Amino acid sequence: MPAIIEIENLSKKFSGFTALKDISLDIKKGDSFAVLGPNGAGKTTLIKILSTLIKPTSGTVRIDGIDIVEDPLEIKKIIGVVSHEPYLYNELTARENLQFFIDLYGCRADPEELLLKVNLKPKADDFVSTFSRGMKQRLSIARSIAHNPKLLLLDEPTVGLDIKSRKDFYKMIKDLHKKGTTILLTTHLMEDAEVLCRNGAIIDGGHVDATGKLMDIRGRISC
Ligand SMILES: Nc1ncnc2c1ncn2[C@@H]1O[C@H](COP(=O)(O)OP(=O)(O)O)[C@@H](O)[C@H]1O
Ligand SMILES: [Mg+2]
Repeated sequence: MPAIIEIENLSKKFSGFTALKDISLDIKKGDSFAVLGPNGAGKTTLIKILSTLIKPTSGTVRIDGIDIVEDPLEIKKIIGVVSHEPYLYNELTARENLQFFIDLYGCRADPEELLLKVNLKPKADDFVSTFSRGMKQRLSIARSIAHNPKLLLLDEPTVGLDIKSRKDFYKMIKDLHKKGTTILLTTHLMEDAEVLCRNGAIIDGGHVDATGKLMDIRGRISC
């Protein structure tokens, strides 16, 4: 399988502090890949670079062959992002939230279909302010897949979810993966990585310490 993400010698500095140090990684199309590391390892920094919110200090990143710095708009069409912060509008209903993002993306998704996918159809007309954390996270998934992305970036998505919500979340991500979406998950939890991913990298202090099959690298995790 060709790579969907190609990272070459990527570094990121924040006014003198180096958050990512010379990272090189290839993630194959169709893979489910975990970036495992403790707090402060550089996981969110990596996701922000991949989602074109911040620029690398040096190195190159291509997603589906497109350079993320040269063509951030094309990248945004290919990726969906789910973070631990839901980034939804509390004062809108679930359906209105989805319609807002569908209009923003200019795509033709059907909010009803998306709500059905994430088991929120009965809550379509409820304000997001009344939602539990698990419901907000499910709505975030619906929002992030509205434009049918090839690649889903998940940044510690299960933080704050109870066991039942976490299981629901796992099922939804697995279903998306089975249908062909490439999954890149960052987490400090081996359980999340093992349930959702086949391959992974261990990152600490902005360095990649190990990459490979999860079962082969799991002994290297220190968090
Ligand atoms: N905007 C920023 N300015 C300065 N330092 C930052 C900034 N963003 C992140 N960092 C630092 O970079 C390191 C990696 O942060 P982050 O990528 O958020 O780690 P993780 O998501 O793995 O917990 C941390 O030491 C953090 O304090
Ligand atoms: Mg983080």
